[in-house]
Amino acid sequence: MDAFVQFTNQSQGRDRIFRASQYACALSVYLLRKNSDRKELVAKLKGLEGTMSAGRKLFRLGNTINSIEAAKRTMQLSDRVLCLCLTAANINRGLYFICDNVLWARSVGLVRDIDKERWSLNASRCYFLSLVANLTRDVYVIVQLMVQRVRDKHFRQKMDQHLRENPEVADVIIPQLDAFLFLLLESLKSHPAVALDTLKNVCDLFIPLDRLGIYQSNAGVVGFCGLMSSLIGIVTLAQPKLRIKP
Ligand SMILES: *[C@@H]1O[C@H](CO)[C@@H](O)[C@H](O)[C@H]1NC(C)=O
Repeated sequence: MDAFVQFTNQSQGRDRIFRASQYACALSVYLLRKNSDRKELVAKLKGLEGTMSAGRKLFRLGNTINSIEAAKRTMQLSDRVLCLCLTAANINRGLYFICDNVLWARSVGLVRDIDKERWSLNASRCYFLSLVANLTRDVYVIVQLMVQRVRDKHFRQKMDQHLRENPEVADVIIPQLDAFLFLLLESLKSHPAVALDTLKNVCDLFIPLDRLGIYQSNAGVVGFCGLMSSLIGIVTLAQPKLRIKP
């Protein structure tokens, strides 16, 4: 089982590169849509986007087991909030991959009597819930970091100095808001892994929000956000220091 989990972890790098290409195609298609002499290129890009998406589905067959293993690990976390958020995220991620695998089986003709639209919506729902759980974790971690900073005397001095040196900002905007933003930005700056994970999850959120009709953006926004989050994913895979833990 360990070897299997390890293998699927390695294939994550490949998946992220495929995912980045998929969304880069989607974004290009959106940007070129009004360009009449690029019709042929647009058609090619659309084909490529479909191929990438289908290729990724094949490689993702093992991810359900991977998510269950991850959920077993996060269930042992001693921090109650982290344990709850991450286990919920991993379980929903596992359910998402089950839907995804069913859709794959249908696309290659292994199963037939399946409502594609319904399974696709269910996949988006699970993905959405997994992201919400992950974002809750991010907010929880950020609040903890901010509380730590406020308790730190040196940091409070630095913040007071910032507020004194920028009185115009503090006057125009509510002073508390200014202090809050300063605190937030300083906390994120000192923990880039948390900042990157939050940004990635926010970018990812636009995809199921659009799909589920909760917040309709357009193909351009979805393509751009998907590309951004895939690139962050590649960076964090290449630089483990920038990966949020646990
Ligand atoms: C939620 O976070 C976990 C752990 O960081 C990650 O493995 C998973 O892919 C994330 N879920 C989504 C939908 O991005």
